[in-house]
Amino acid sequence: MRSQKISTKENSKLSNEIDKLRVPKHIAIIMDGNGRWASKKGLPRSFGHNKGVNVLKEIIKVSKNLDCQVLTVYAFSTENWTRPSTEVDFLINLFEKVLKKEITEIHQESIKIKFIGDLSPFPKALKSIINSSETLTKNNKNFTLNICVNYGGRQEIVKAAREIAIKSLAGEIKPSEIDEQLFNSQLLTHGIKDPELLIRTSGEKRISNFLLWQLAYSEIYITDVLWPDFNEIEFFKAIIDYQSRDRRFGGIQSLPNKSCKDSNYSS
Ligand code: IPE
Ligand code: IPE
Ligand code: MG
Repeated sequence: MRSQKISTKENSKLSNEIDKLRVPKHIAIIMDGNGRWASKKGLPRSFGHNKGVNVLKEIIKVSKNLDCQVLTVYAFSTENWTRPSTEVDFLINLFEKVLKKEITEIHQESIKIKFIGDLSPFPKALKSIINSSETLTKNNKNFTLNICVNYGGRQEIVKAAREIAIKSLAGEIKPSEIDEQLFNSQLLTHGIKDPELLIRTSGEKRISNFLLWQLAYSEIYITDVLWPDFNEIEFFKAIIDYQSRDRRFGGIQSLPNKSCKDSNYSS
């Protein structure tokens, strides 16, 4: 009871420190540390993944309340297939189970959900619930949740290059017309502005093949907190830290609320 009171006090103190007009509109998160969280408690890794889902639900609510408009989270990388098949199967089942359970509320909250990555290796049942969830929520305007599954930044870039090469061979585009904007339009994230902030939990100082193109000028916040222990307070700390940064984009003057070449990227 007492610790709850203290954390409520800390919540409101940190919340007051946030400049509500300079909250990043798009935040990307590498939700890492589920396995270590569980192992530390002597539990199977799957417990960490389950707890991680609850944390994501909380962070979606907090983001919406702060008027952040887009969250892009890394849920399964192209390299995660190298894990033991029991863990991979658990995660695939978890995605399906959670989506089935939560989709009604997601829609009621006017959240648009989108899955980013190569869905082809996933079981039919998962692909089908992903498709129906995206269709159901596609016109929702309050908030966008992008979930990266079987996603790899390098694979995304190679795919874009291949598509451009095909169009070029077909005479649809000239090589001289290939620029950043055109390349960006071929990425899986086309139509989404680059994240202003990347959060990685669990202390690892790498991006693990996440959004290699899109993170070019994102501010990076790394916390030692493991994803299952991440919460509103930790999220507020990340935003406060972001707001202390001097975003220069290679220049001299700080441009606090701008994405790199913002105007080039449609939303
Ligand atoms: C992140 O937690 C979730 C996924 C990669 C699916 P991990 O499962 O990587 O947990 P750690 O990093 O091993 O603790
Ligand atoms: C990145 O975490 C992928 C996700 C969070 C889904 P990993 O745990 O797979 O990354 P590494 O292996 O520590 O680089
Ligand atoms: Mg990890």
